[in-house]
Amino acid sequence: MTMSAPGRRREHSGNVPGVSMQFPGVWRLRGKLLTRNAVPGIRAYSEDLLQLEGKEYRVWDPTRSKLAAALVKGLRTFPFPLGAKVLYLGIANGNTASFLSDIIGPEGAVYGVEISERSMRDLAQLAQLRPHIIPVLANAKLPGRYAWVEPVDVIYQDVAADDQAEILLRNAARFLKKGGFALLAIKARSIDVTAPPEQVFRRELARVRALEIVEEIRLDPLEKDHLFVVLRKP
Ligand SMILES: C[S@@+](CC[C@H](N)C(=O)[O-])C[C@H]1O[C@@H](n2cnc3c(N)ncnc32)[C@H](O)[C@@H]1O
Repeated sequence: MTMSAPGRRREHSGNVPGVSMQFPGVWRLRGKLLTRNAVPGIRAYSEDLLQLEGKEYRVWDPTRSKLAAALVKGLRTFPFPLGAKVLYLGIANGNTASFLSDIIGPEGAVYGVEISERSMRDLAQLAQLRPHIIPVLANAKLPGRYAWVEPVDVIYQDVAADDQAEILLRNAARFLKKGGFALLAIKARSIDVTAPPEQVFRRELARVRALEIVEEIRLDPLEKDHLFVVLRKP
């Protein structure tokens, strides 16, 4: 299933030669991925900014974001309409989340769970400019610590931990709406450095079989030995 229904206020750059919309909120220009900058004039990190039709866009680097890498590699399921509520496990300093926040707009929310206090400091600065990113300093293994988070449409998980299947299942049971999506980045080397990556991926997918597998994408060579998986809560 492809969540590509246009949102309520998706202005786009249809008149600019070479610009096409990949999904609502995500554009392509000469192979580059773009989102519309929710905070014009301000970079979240060191991304390039482009002015098109008097509007500002941010260039989303697929070598620095697994979600961008998955889009470049042909991701078909993109469940981030305007207003979507997202629980992001392993948000780090918020690089990918900053693009998600452009895409889901101010009525959406990204609850960003992160265990590292250092990353959380950067994230807190980002959230001052993008208040619909809500930093949560916590261990994603203990979802009871952030039980106040509302039910969400999507869980995005990129924690690079060996028990990531268990982390996802616990959080999905608690927060993910029925029919909601879970996007999981699996790094083979974080789980087992000796086994072939494909074997690790099959093992991890067997562990999350309480969720339906919708789509799988290998992120190589943008991210070595990574599988990006879209799952759905039945
Ligand atoms: C690969 S990085 C995430 C990068 C980020 N998703 C992005 O695209 O901008 C993984 C992050 O998960 C965090 N992490 C690892 N284990 C965690 C846990 N149990 N709970 C919360 N965060 C965790 C790490 O501190 C690290 O910041």
